[in-house]
Amino acid sequence: MSILVTGGAGYIGSHVVVELLNKGEKVVILDNFCNSERSTADRIRQITNKNVLDYLVDITDARAVDRIFALHGFECVIHFAALKAVGESVQNPFAYYHNNVAGMLVLLKAMQKYNVKQLVFSSSATVYGIQDSNPIYETADRSAISPYGQTKIMCENIISDLAKADPKFSAISLRYFNPVGAHSSYLIGENPKGAPNNLMPIIANVATKKTQKMSVYGNDYDTFDGTCIRDYIHVVDLAVGHIHALEYIRCHKGMTSVNLGTGSGVSVLQAIETFESVNDVRVPYDVIDRRKGDSAVLVANVDKAKHILNWQAKIDFNTMCRDQYGWATRCNKV
Ligand SMILES: NC(=O)c1ccc[n+]([C@@H]2O[C@H](COP(=O)([O-])OP(=O)(O)OC[C@H]3O[C@@H](n4cnc5c(N)ncnc54)[C@H](O)[C@@H]3O)[C@@H](O)[C@H]2O)c1
Repeated sequence: MSILVTGGAGYIGSHVVVELLNKGEKVVILDNFCNSERSTADRIRQITNKNVLDYLVDITDARAVDRIFALHGFECVIHFAALKAVGESVQNPFAYYHNNVAGMLVLLKAMQKYNVKQLVFSSSATVYGIQDSNPIYETADRSAISPYGQTKIMCENIISDLAKADPKFSAISLRYFNPVGAHSSYLIGENPKGAPNNLMPIIANVATKKTQKMSVYGNDYDTFDGTCIRDYIHVVDLAVGHIHALEYIRCHKGMTSVNLGTGSGVSVLQAIETFESVNDVRVPYDVIDRRKGDSAVLVANVDKAKHILNWQAKIDFNTMCRDQYGWATRCNKV
């Protein structure tokens, strides 16, 4: 039986597909390529020497999704397909609720119809909103401050209710902290259409001179150097976490949520300085006012992932910086 990976041509999905194929799993990708390239499947084949099918399908298109389920006997679904830009979700909430929540409902309906009972869902640390105490446990209150974060909370709630209603259903919601870096082949990585929103791609854009300078939003936070602290995790570590999650849901029913992070924090200035020294580049920046809605610190407690998934992140921040830059210097040439 095969595994359906929705959004499998995207940044995290493509790295997970590589790990799945390397484990000998059969994989089918469903993607509308709104934020990825059709050539991703070729690059995955190049990395793994294995075949992968990819379908151009929108997850909100119930008839097209049904056709894919009718064609393949899926054992499990890993659901990445979603829009993910927090700022854009504030400007255009409807697109986010439609794509992320209505898309999830279409998928769950097809899973019910075709008796597919295992789901790995891509959630996010944004479900925690602003937290006063760190590290953040999975039991912390969820209170997203953007429509994007709301869509993740809604999807988690829907999945949880389905799991309560169907004793055969198993699901895991993986709450990612800040995925960065790229596969060491530099054939896949994050290639967003439009300007990046996350710190590391912004740093990489300055380092490769796509932009001249970057902004640091505030240096008066209550942190050791005044800038915000986040938990960055290498995308390959994150991908391996999905393999462990899959093994977990294959033998546990019900729904659970797990943080995927490293458990340690890096400040914005530390990130810039490490990126500069590891890659021997300059990253000019200006410090400007704080941005609304940023917490001073967001770091995962990762005990649950260690305990139930037998997984923990291994790749250090220097390697994250090296791979972010390696990909940024090559991504437009492959
Ligand atoms: N990258 C992050 O920082 C981060 C952090 C937390 C959670 N997440 C979540 O992880 C998942 C994957 O994120 P990513 O960084 O790989 O993003 P991405 O944009 O690179 O990948 C998402 C993929 O889904 C596809 N897609 C979007 N809408 C679709 C639709 N309606 N039908 C079919 N395909 C569709 C896109 O074309 C893309 O290939 C998302 O659900 C995102 O919300 C990402």
